[in-house]
Order: sequence, then structure tokens, then C-alpha cells
Amino acid sequence: PSAASDTGPWPKAELHLHIEGTLEPELAFALAERNGVTLPYATEDELRRAYSFADLQSFLNLYYALMAVLRTEDDFADLADAYLARAKEQGVRHAEIFFDPQAHTARGVPVGTVVDGLARALDRAQETYGISTRLIMCFLRDESAESALATFEAARPHLHRIAAVGLDSAEVGHPPAKFKEVFALAREAGLKCVAHAGEEGPAAYVWEALDVLGVDRIDHGVRCMEDERLVARLAAEQVPLTVCPLSNVRLRVIDDLADHPLPAMLDAGLLVTVNSDDPAYFGGYADDNFTAVRDALGFDAETLRTLARNSFRASFLDEATRERYL
Ligand code: ADE
Ligand code: ZN
Repeated sequence: PSAASDTGPWPKAELHLHIEGTLEPELAFALAERNGVTLPYATEDELRRAYSFADLQSFLNLYYALMAVLRTEDDFADLADAYLARAKEQGVRHAEIFFDPQAHTARGVPVGTVVDGLARALDRAQETYGISTRLIMCFLRDESAESALATFEAARPHLHRIAAVGLDSAEVGHPPAKFKEVFALAREAGLKCVAHAGEEGPAAYVWEALDVLGVDRIDHGVRCMEDERLVARLAAEQVPLTVCPLSNVRLRVIDDLADHPLPAMLDAGLLVTVNSDDPAYFGGYADDNFTAVRDALGFDAETLRTLARNSFRASFLDEATRERYL
């Protein structure tokens, strides 16, 4: 039996998805036209040819540059709606969606415009696509702690729409501890906490995200495998890790999908999930990642089922709703 059986893709939750990373070339050009923004690429094909990355930073450069087309509430609603339509086709029943407010406020787009636009699409998602949703507001770790604090304060009027805070962007040289204060404020405000750690950065950043930021989940975390004590702790505490296989290959975190540590992570008893990260850039949405690991790593139906169940176990859904998917 395969994941893409007659019954369609496995029902799953997507827990590591940057909404700005779902901006497909077609929508980027449409929004550029609508907003009178000139892109440094003549055609969609020319843009697509730029999707070849040496590392995380080379991807981030393009990711932030393309965001110039996102200006109005409608733009953010259209972006999120396009993602949700794709996600439904991929068996996604619940999505916890990152956004990067500082990447927009830096361009003069208020955080309220971003949140209201995204929320407009998310509020219709259950009815339109059968997908429940949460929003996760990420701080850019290569910006200052003060900027993160100012962003959190600017977002306070919108916190009722936000389930968690996260930490993303260029990892190496930007350890989690710098954001201790803003994560403490978020926790006090009743938000969950997550952080990218152990993608390009060392296992030490995963320890720090757990011990200093008190995160509920680790995003990526694949480099935890370099630290036996850390693996033992993550397994004992069942800390969820939101792994993104196709992203890891495209950003050269690993050389080849066939060498991905996912099987070793499962064998170690870690609560791992499979996610798409920035699907417009990395060649696949949620189920494309499931299919890719099935083919490259030889996962059987039981393993894929475990990954799908893990995605709900690791979600911020309330216990009763989570149970319905397990
Ligand atoms: N922002 C968007 N995608 C990211 C990733 N994979 N790592 C860090 N920051 C990101
Ligand atoms: Zn990510």
C-alpha cells in the first residue's frame, strides 16, 4: 500500500509553513502588476530559474525580495487562500501558519494589514476547505531583540488571532537566547512558543531554545542527531520536531534525500513531523514531502501513518479535537 492510495493523501496537519514561502511565481507577477511593483525578473520562467540555492541565506535573499509585491490586506488574503486551496488537495486538515511581520513592517506595511488579510482567508478556511488553522508570528533572529520587542508590542491588539510566536531567518550566529525577553512576554500573554533551531545551526541552539526560550516545539531540529544527550532528552520529553525534508535538500542542509536523518530520528523515538517549509521555493507541498520521503527512504504505510498521527499529536489543537484525528 502507498500513501497515494485510492483513499487519497493521508489526512495530516502542517506545522511548519511560512505563508510568504507559498508565493508562487504566477501570484507574484499578478500582485506585482496589481500594485505597480517591478520585479527584477522578466518572466515567471526566469524567476523559477532563480530557485537554485547554495544555503539558507541565498534562499532568504530571494524570499525577502519577492515579498515586495505583498502590500495590501487583499494581497495577504489572496496569498493565504491560494495556500489553503493547495493544502486541501494535499490532505492537510489543520495548518499552523508562520508569518514574518518584520519583513513587511520594514517596507511600511503595518502588522495589522498583514494579520487582518491573513485572518480573512483563515477565518473562511474551515468552511471552504475543511481546514482548521492557527497563526504563528515569527521574529527575525538576524534583527535585534529590540526590534522583536517592538514588533510584539505593535502586534498586541491582534494577539487574539495569534496562537504562538516563533523564531526564523538566518540561524548561524543568531542563537535563541537573544530573544529570551520577548518569548517570556509572549508566554505571559498566553501564547505558545516555537523556534527554528538545528537547521543550519548547531545542536547547542536546540538546547538553548528549550532551556532559555521554553519552546513547545523545535522547527527543523535535524542537527540534534549530532548530540546523543539532546536526542535522549527530546525523546524523553516528546518535544515535537517539525522536519522539512525537501527544504533540507534544496538548502543543502543534507546532500541527498536518501541520506536524510528522518529514519534515525524515528528509530530514536523522537516525535517527528513532515512539513513543507516554503513550498513555492522547494518543489513541494505537504503531501509531496510525504511522497518524497516514501520514495527516497522506503517508508511503509505504517511509518507514513505514524508521521501523519504525529502531526496532530504535535499540533496546538485542543486535546479533544486532536484525539479525533488519532
Ligand atoms: N524563513 C523561511 N524559511 C525559513 C527556513 N527554512 N529557515 C529559517 N528561516 C526561514
Ligand atoms: Zn522554516
